[in-house]
Amino acid sequence: MKILSIETSADETAVSVVQVDGDFPTATYTILGNALFSQVDSHKEYGGIYPTLAKREHAKTLPLMLTNALKEAGLLKAKKTPHLEPDHLSVINETLHREPGLGKAMTTWLKANEPPEIDLIGVTSGPGLEPALWVGINLAKILALVWEKPIRPVNHMEGHLLASVFDGKKLAPLEFPALGLLISGGHTELDLMTDWHTYTCIGKTRDDAVGEAFDKVARMLGLGYPGGPALDDLVIKNKQSIENNDARSGLKLPRPMLSSNDLDFSFSGLKTAVRYLINDRDLTKAETIIIANEFVDAVSEVLIKKCHSAIDRYGIKSLIIGGGVSASRNIKTVFLNYFKTNKPNLKIYIPDTELATDNAIMIALTAGAKSQTEPPVAVQDIVANGNLALEQTDG
Ligand code: KG4
Ligand code: ZN
Repeated sequence: MKILSIETSADETAVSVVQVDGDFPTATYTILGNALFSQVDSHKEYGGIYPTLAKREHAKTLPLMLTNALKEAGLLKAKKTPHLEPDHLSVINETLHREPGLGKAMTTWLKANEPPEIDLIGVTSGPGLEPALWVGINLAKILALVWEKPIRPVNHMEGHLLASVFDGKKLAPLEFPALGLLISGGHTELDLMTDWHTYTCIGKTRDDAVGEAFDKVARMLGLGYPGGPALDDLVIKNKQSIENNDARSGLKLPRPMLSSNDLDFSFSGLKTAVRYLINDRDLTKAETIIIANEFVDAVSEVLIKKCHSAIDRYGIKSLIIGGGVSASRNIKTVFLNYFKTNKPNLKIYIPDTELATDNAIMIALTAGAKSQTEPPVAVQDIVANGNLALEQTDG
């Protein structure tokens, strides 16, 4: 089975083609094509993702990403004579009436290219920015209708978790109960997994997400936007000098909710504490490094403590860390070291760096898994849901 997947939940426009051989969860995956465009430069001046702009950029970039992914997969074939059935034209016009630019581009695209030999279309339906999600969903809908292919909506956060257990070929044979720690720009949550696709949210942030805190603190430290990766790098590159710096001992940031009995998080106080610490001063390079390091330590300590509590409480056998912040080399190292000593039997899954941040491969993995385990979904039933939760609540 070949899956074409589309991801537009935030500021990454991504399309991939993945071949799946065999049945979930023991299938083998081959990445045939992977196209990704980051809009980060467009959002820089706003210091965060600007939803209207994200939507516009997705609409502008998607046809090219589609071409690139299919071309790389060897599945792009030009029609001998460009044409499109009249009822297909009306499907495009109806579905994309709010994105006339994309409608026009896709009309040209679909007139020019043969339907590719794919078997399923996967698309992120949430959580994320609804205007951005709709662009990807509407594109997926017209492709499904014009090409007459099944379609599968995917939860972006489930995509992150599957990406974490994916080794480039296969999904790990997970031992349950597993614990999912999702740390991204919009999420910080702990999910208990009693089986594949079976989630109960057992803790989450009450205010900022970890990625958001990383980005905001990085901005205060003059590290640009989105500063999470820059802050992480700065700490990694200066580990030696940090350890030898005496000023370090005098600096202590709070560890919010470290000792609360629940599994919830809070990061806005930590961000505010950094603001007070900087107090509008111009920091020296050494001060910047020490604050960044203490921030990373504070975040890691809280994340680890909550995971440890959840592991004990639920008898967890596997810990899956997913979402953009799982690309942090600091967090990766601290988690691996801590649990190696404190829970030597625990299996820990952390994604490869390219799969940690938003991408379409994780959407293909999830679409494939779901299509093999759940009933088909009708095109008209797919809607964007900005707050889509992992936990299924019936009724
Ligand atoms: O999952 P993701 O790509 O998008 C969302 O679904 O939100 O996560 C993006 C977040 C951003 O806040 C970004 O700064 C953070 O992940 N991030 C990192 C690193 N790479 C990305 N934070 C710390 N260290 C990194 N290396
Ligand atoms: Zn994400």
